[in-house]
Amino acid sequence: MKILLFGKSGQVGWELQRSLAVLGDVIALDVTSGDVCGDFTKLQELAATVRQIRPGVIVNAAAHTAVDKAESEPELVRAINALAPEVLAQEAKAIGAWLVHYSTDYVFDGSGEKPWREDDVAGPLSIYGATKREGEQAIQQSGCNHLIFRTSWVYAARGGNFAKTMLRLASERERLTVINDQVGAPTGADLIADITAHAIRIAQLHPQVSGLYHLVASGETSWYGYARFVLDFACNAGVNLKVTPDNLVPVATTAFPTPARRPHNSRLDTNKLQSTFNLQMPPWQSGVARMLTEILEKQ
Ligand SMILES: NC(=O)c1ccc[n+]([C@@H]2O[C@H](COP(=O)([O-])OP(=O)(O)OC[C@H]3O[C@@H](n4cnc5c(N)ncnc54)[C@H](OP(=O)(O)O)[C@@H]3O)[C@@H](O)[C@H]2O)c1
Repeated sequence: MKILLFGKSGQVGWELQRSLAVLGDVIALDVTSGDVCGDFTKLQELAATVRQIRPGVIVNAAAHTAVDKAESEPELVRAINALAPEVLAQEAKAIGAWLVHYSTDYVFDGSGEKPWREDDVAGPLSIYGATKREGEQAIQQSGCNHLIFRTSWVYAARGGNFAKTMLRLASERERLTVINDQVGAPTGADLIADITAHAIRIAQLHPQVSGLYHLVASGETSWYGYARFVLDFACNAGVNLKVTPDNLVPVATTAFPTPARRPHNSRLDTNKLQSTFNLQMPPWQSGVARMLTEILEKQ
């Protein structure tokens, strides 16, 4: 089977290069790919690439994910997050391919405290959230076989991430404040990629699983709780920090004004994913601890 992967250099795309390799031949593209087009701002070339390669599965890990910057370049964000996925969906439908796509907790308005279910009404607060929602809808309306995974608070050991930023700031500063009124689940790019490969395998055998799923690690925390876990882990590993877990300062979102509004409640209910694909979601702490072990070993 041929698998066409877009966004190969991002957090999730990088892990997908690993996890998809056992399923077939992976043709992995990013914005710089030469002969064929992996640039989501070039819609006609993108369509031609799919037609030329004729994959059995298209996996789209590319997106405009700079949530604050998105507020000042809405047309570019819409092209990448909504129009390009629409083109991929139309091309997938035309050649009978599956389309795997990722979306976000930011499609919700973040009200209440209950984990969001797949059929809850969306209400994005930002350009990023609105364009990701538009991308989901375009795929659903295209009629192609698809798996859309909404995830949240994605991290990877490779590249920058929240945990690394907390470790750096806690070693440089005397005082550190972290938001404690946004709640969600940190989710590893490796977990997302592994579940994607598993779900593609199931989907090949049972096409009726086509649909939208929430995919996050189990449990919940705030950014403050996440930061405490990171500093606690580092202290136990013997890292010298100026700010210890006990003197981290919890603050409200309003303490950090940003161009884009973010949901307070980012909890996602994963029951549909777990029952459809016969999976159990690991606690968020296990993946974060693993990632921390990897990055602290390299220091
Ligand atoms: N990160 C999160 O916390 C989070 C949370 C919920 C959902 N998601 C969703 O999960 C998916 C994967 O996210 P991620 O964390 O892996 O994102 P990421 O690390 O930012 O990767 C996105 C990739 O898309 C590429 N890209 C940007 N503009 C492009 C264009 N015009 N054409 C082609 N590729 C382009 C980026 O390239 P450059 O780096 O060169 O720009 C990057 O390699 C996305 O659909 C995202 O919306 C992410």
